[in-house]
Amino acid sequence: LDIDWDASAATLGGYSDFMAKEIAEQPAAISRLLKDRLGKHGVELDELSMSNDDLAAIDRVYMVACGTSYHVSLIARELVQDWAKIPVFCEYASELNYKEPLVTDHTLCVIITQSGETADTLTAARRMKALGCKVFAITNVLGSSAARESDGTMYIQAGPEVCVASTKAYTAQMVASALLALRLALANGSMDEDEVRGHFASLEQVPGLMEEVISRRWQDKQAARVFRNAKSALFLGRGVNSTTAYEGALKLKEISYLHAEAYPAGEMKHGPIALLEPGFPVVAIVPADHVHDKTVSNIEESIARGATVVAVATDGDERVAKLCENVLWIPPCPEEWIVPLVAVVHLQLLARYVARARGCDVDKPRNLAKSVTVE
Ligand code: G6P
Repeated sequence: LDIDWDASAATLGGYSDFMAKEIAEQPAAISRLLKDRLGKHGVELDELSMSNDDLAAIDRVYMVACGTSYHVSLIARELVQDWAKIPVFCEYASELNYKEPLVTDHTLCVIITQSGETADTLTAARRMKALGCKVFAITNVLGSSAARESDGTMYIQAGPEVCVASTKAYTAQMVASALLALRLALANGSMDEDEVRGHFASLEQVPGLMEEVISRRWQDKQAARVFRNAKSALFLGRGVNSTTAYEGALKLKEISYLHAEAYPAGEMKHGPIALLEPGFPVVAIVPADHVHDKTVSNIEESIARGATVVAVATDGDERVAKLCENVLWIPPCPEEWIVPLVAVVHLQLLARYVARARGCDVDKPRNLAKSVTVE
């Protein structure tokens, strides 16, 4: 494997901060990751170091991670379950370390860690290995502890991520997880080669879709004004985009120090709705998908209580355009599971603009470390 990083990869190269640079690097990182992945038998993932028979026998997957990488696992779970029909358990590494995992003879443990050095994740991986699991790492750092200690490693090849808040590693890890899900589905016969190629073709559109969102960053800059006097914000999304909401709220918290929480939109009525009052910011991820109408209802409920809604919606959505003054527009995506990769770019940009307006150091937020090497 040839991973060619020169020193310039760790310099600002004309950007005002690493976060801006790393957000902008996402399309290239995804293209790099997808290069040469489509082989004559569908998706190639030799890094798994497992035979087709062993892959076909996997009956359970544990996904273990922390922070932003944990959010990747939530999307990965949907893909592996939908495509490979294998049940998936997502665990915060720091929680798994005090639990008894239900390991079978054919359980695969996937650890997702940008740095490859997060202590909780490494401890969990060692434990799962001791219980007899094959451990597969998805990481960015060549020769990291996660890579060295795992049975197989997939490098996301995103280049050095300097900003403490993760951006390009999030989307690249998600793409790596999608490739893993496709490989598992192909191995156990849940999907045929044509279907795999179809999904892969959707992934190939991601860099272009991300470029388009980045070119619309003025929308995020404008929407950032909504948060000027805010103390708190609520993020809502449904299905795969409940995870987009979690990640958007985490980004805002990490770098702007605004309290933000995220809920699956349908859960709003079970608690968070009590927070709403005039001017309260609600960020609703409401793409053109099969749950669109339901999420539009959440927007209407929020507006009825005086909340200011910032929506992430698909081009041409007139209902949302009529309801919300601030819309972060995304171009149409080829499949619903592609949306999280595209919509999150707006939320990264939004968090950055809010943080900068509040005078925060976006690259080095207080109290946080890029890699947490203590348990
Ligand atoms: C720290 C960082 C986060 C990151 C998390 C997990 O909390 O500040 O940005 O998501 O660790 O890091 P990892 O390297 O394991 O993905």
